[in-house]
Parts: sequence; C-alpha cells; structure tokens
Amino acid sequence: MSNYHVKTLEEYFQVYRKSVRNPELFWEEIAEEHFVWRKKWNNVLSYDFTKPEVKWFEGAKLNITENCIDRHLQIRGDKTAILFEPNNPDEEAEHISYKELHKRVCKFANVLKENGIKKGDRVCVYLPMIPELAISVLACARIGAVHSVVFAGFSSTALSTRINDCEAKMVITSDGSYRGAKTIDLKGIVDEALESCECIDTVLVAKRIDSEINMKEGRDKWLQPLLDKASENCDPEIMDAEDPLFILYTSGSTGSPKGMLHTTAGYMIYTAYTFKNVFNYKENDVYWCTADIGWITGHSYIVYGPLANGATTVMFEGVPSYPDFGRFWEIVEKHKVNQFYTAPTAIRSLAKEKLDFVDQYDLSSLKVLGTVGEPINEEAWHWYNDNVGNKKSPIVDTWWQTETGGMMISPMPYITPTKPTYATLPLPGVQLALMDENGEEIKGNQVDGRLCVKYPWPSMARTIWGNHQRYKDTYFSAFENKYFTGDGALRDEVGYYRITGRVDDVIIVSGHNLGTAPIEDAINEHPAVAESAIVGFPHDVKGNALYGYVILKDVGESRNHDNLRKEINQIITEHIGPIAKLNKIQFTVGLPKTRSGKIMRRILRKIAHNELDNLGDVSTLLNPEVVQSIIDNRL
Ligand code: WT7
Repeated sequence: MSNYHVKTLEEYFQVYRKSVRNPELFWEEIAEEHFVWRKKWNNVLSYDFTKPEVKWFEGAKLNITENCIDRHLQIRGDKTAILFEPNNPDEEAEHISYKELHKRVCKFANVLKENGIKKGDRVCVYLPMIPELAISVLACARIGAVHSVVFAGFSSTALSTRINDCEAKMVITSDGSYRGAKTIDLKGIVDEALESCECIDTVLVAKRIDSEINMKEGRDKWLQPLLDKASENCDPEIMDAEDPLFILYTSGSTGSPKGMLHTTAGYMIYTAYTFKNVFNYKENDVYWCTADIGWITGHSYIVYGPLANGATTVMFEGVPSYPDFGRFWEIVEKHKVNQFYTAPTAIRSLAKEKLDFVDQYDLSSLKVLGTVGEPINEEAWHWYNDNVGNKKSPIVDTWWQTETGGMMISPMPYITPTKPTYATLPLPGVQLALMDENGEEIKGNQVDGRLCVKYPWPSMARTIWGNHQRYKDTYFSAFENKYFTGDGALRDEVGYYRITGRVDDVIIVSGHNLGTAPIEDAINEHPAVAESAIVGFPHDVKGNALYGYVILKDVGESRNHDNLRKEINQIITEHIGPIAKLNKIQFTVGLPKTRSGKIMRRILRKIAHNELDNLGDVSTLLNPEVVQSIIDNRL
C-alpha cells in the first residue's frame, strides 16, 4: 500500500488513521518518495497555534519548478504539460510540452532577472488565461520571486490596493483580453491603477489582442522581444522549505483584502497529493479545471498540483457561453478530457439552457467530475451527474479555501460513495472539529457546528502579508488552538460533512468570496449615500446575490432611484469589480441596529430571504419601527 495513491475505501481509512496517529511520519514518507530535494529537512513539523506559527520540512532546500518541470523532462519531455484552448474556437489550440514549458519558463525567468527582479521581490501578475499567465507564475517561482496574481476581472482600484499592499516591483499584464465576443482593455486598467502606486518599476506587456495601447517610457516594455533575446537556461534558485511562494488576496469580512501567504515545500506536497487522489489522475489523462489562475483553485489545481504530477492540464481562455452554451462540452469532446473540475454556479447557468447543448457532444472520455467554490445544491448535482457524467462519473465535491491552499474535504472517486450536497470525508492529514457557541468541540455524529481544523496541514497559509495580528485574530482566536474556517458544517450519521455556508460576513456570489464591509465602504462613497448594509439572498444561478439597503443623506432626494442604483453599482464596479454589483437596492429610512449601534444583518438577511415569520425579537433594537418599513418596501 502506498500512502501517495489511495486505491480502496479500506485503504483510505487505514491511511487516514495513520495520518492522524503520526502526521509527521505520514507526510515525511510522501515527501521522501515523490519529490526532488536539493537537501532533506531536519524537522518535519513544528507549530504553535497560539502564535500562530507553522513550519513544515524546516531545513529542506528545493525549487518547486524543478519538481513541476525539470524532473519530468527525461520521462515525459514531449508530453503536453499545458493545453491552451483559446477564447475563439477557430483559433488553434496550443500544446505546450514539458520540454517547451521548461524553455519558456527559463526564458521568462531570465527576463525577470534582467529587469531587476530578485529572490523575495513581489511581482504582480494581471493577465488573462493565456499561457503567459502560467509561465510567469512559474518563472517567478524559478527565481524565488513571490507572485501575487490578481484576477483580471478586478478593477483598477482593487488592483492598486493589492499592488501597494505587497509593494510589488513589477506588473505583468497584456495589451488586452478576450472575453467571449468582447475585448477588455487590461493595459488601460493597469495604467489607471499605477497612478496610485509608487512601488512599480517595470510593466511587462504580453501581446494578445493587438490593440493600440499607451506604453510609458522607461516603465512599460513589450514582453516578446525580451523573451526572444533571453537565454533558455536558468538554474533554479534554491529555496528553503518555508520561503514564500506566493501571495493571493482574498476578501475578508472587514476592511482591506487579506494577502494570504503560502510557502514552498508544504504547499507543493499537499497540492500534488490531493490532485493525485481527488482526481485519480493517470499518466495519459487530460485534466481540465475551468477556474481562472487568478483564484486559488487555478494556482493549486491548474498549475502546481497537476504539473507536480506530470499531468496534462488544460487552460481555457474563454467563457462557457461563447460562442454558445455548448462550449465546455465541445472542449471536453475535442481534447478528450478525463477529469473536469468546475464551479456550481457554472453548472447552474448551463443547466438552464437546452440539453441539446450537452447532448450533441461525446462526453464518454470523462471519468471524474469535480465542483468547488460553494455548496452545490441537489438539483445542480443531479443535472451534472445525469447529463454530464451520464451517471457513470463520480462527482467530487471539494471543500477548501484560499487559506487552506489545497482541498480539505472531498470524496476520492471510485472509493468514497458520494452523496449529493456532501463534501463527504476529510482527506488524509486533515483533522476536523465542529465547535459549539461555547467553544466546546461537538463529538459524535448527526451534529452541526462551526467548522475548525485542529492540527496543521502542509499547505495552510502561514500569515497575512504584513499583518500577522490579523491572521491570528481572523483564524486562531475564535476557538482555542484551532484554525477557524468561517464556515458552518454538519456531520451526518456516518460522519460525512456537508458545508452549510458562511457564518461570518462573507457572502459567496458565483463562487467568489465577497466581504460585506468593502462593498459597503464603496457604496458609502456615493455623495448621496449616508449608510448602507449588504446581505446575501438565494439566487438560482449565482447561488447568492447581493441585496443592498441604502439610507440616503437627503430623505427627499429628488433624483430618480433607478439612476442612483446605476451609479451605486458603477462605484462598486470601479472599487471592486463587476462581480460585486448588487442585484437589488432598497432605499430605506433606517437600518435595524442594536443599542450599541451595530447593524443587525440577521434581520436584514431574513427580510431579503422573505422569511418574515421568524424575525426573532426585535423589541430590543434601538429602532424597532424601521423593521416594518423595510418589510413594507422590500423588493
Ligand atoms: C469558501 C472559500 C476553494 C477554492 C474556491 C473558493 C466556500 C468552497 C466549497 C464546497 C461548500 C464551499 C466555503 C469556503 N466553499 N468550496 N465544495 N462546498 N462551500 O475559495 O474564495 O477562498 O472561498 O468557499 O464557504 O469557506 P475561497
């Protein structure tokens, strides 16, 4: 039996027990057998959740790109590493072999060096889903620079906030991007962002849409001519196990985005291990994750996890609806995709269209289907299972977070019996706890509570960039000696977990993690707005949509409310991005508040959900009378 690849349910239980009894030994064996080290570790794990401090494989030396690329060259140098499928189906797909990837990453790494990037420097990557995105991330890792990818759907303000927070020296972007039938002026967004950033010395610009753009003298450089001149040889920088690999921002329930810092060895081992087991990847399989590399899903399961296993990983530039709603399935047929990993919101949007879009394609290559990002509802699960998987491909509902770096709860296909809406069992090495409101662990089955992890796992984020105190407060203060996820979960009679949703002020819209506070801050910038509160409400495609309650400064505000709504959404788009736009905006004279002045979002949430019979006791509010007026005017 190998720890690295679990093959039966019995083995899963054995491996799981071993991983709990002796986590250090468990991960050490995996690290020994399956990775390339320049020097082995002195100590597998040291940790203290009160600080909190976690170190895996201290003393070890390695480079993650050597594990993801170089070591495959001998045995699978000509195998496709990255299979790029362009936005336009008439444009040819690009098969980038491991050999070619090696060459392109080395060249790119040399361009970074020639432009002043050194080990430890931060590089902001703001690119569409084109090969340069994966290659630039790997090029940073090659030389020990810390990449911070910002999803290219974020606005200029969101981009500048992230650049300034990590004090990046360089931005890598493109002249623009394709999104279905549209093009987006990415370089224009970067230019706007950089008006408020002083730390950036260089902007490298990849050519994608061939548009006219401004190039700022001394700062902006076209990428291709630099690559053409660069050498194909670049020795990997030798990194310590705990050296930073990347920063990735995620929204919090309050304030600015949190730059989650991930480090090298533990992240590599864990993403590789979970990729292998959760997708049951076999040597000649073609694997496709539809996420964007701008999110953690893309980091861990388009780039690092698959490449560490020598896999063929598909990168798709486009959207599921272009040129029509059959695009995903067309690609599955075209490239004979074996593992397909997507988000519930994508499934729900495709399930609304005619079945013909699915049925006209041959999906028989599929062996495993996956979902991630939010709870999947029963209806979407069955649609996916029946129409895409033809009831033959197990669905792995994978629960995890930007903070966890890799999947934490998930079935293993053909091993763990699946159950719709359940992420099922913790993966080996993951020790969960459900906690009650008094901070006690809830033992036994058929219970629910707040989901925590009580022991370190290798790919956990080590800190929030520049704000360790916030890391401690957010994740390690709610429950003593435990990592708190922010999610609620239930454990059924056999021990399967089902995630019930966030228990904090984070709302998941179309699988994107949005904090209420930054959106409210943006709305409050509108000159006519006095105060606002955001809650989520169920939406049949997005999972949740946003409902905003807004108090205007001048109650008699004569302006047209529809125009105000547009302006508010415009401000949100500018500050955060279109994904955070509100579906409903209700103007109100007041918001329900506690006597200490805290907005009672619970009541607003119930009203937005149309659950009017159990609002609870409102008499203790500072202003109970506003509740009725909000109910009367609800949208
Ligand atoms: C939050 C993390 C993990 C990559 C994408 C999202 C929710 C994630 C599931 C799932 C139910 C899920 C949780 C979690 N979530 N996967 N399979 N079932 N909920 O990463 O943006 O950091 O969001 O997404 O609420 O805490 P993220």
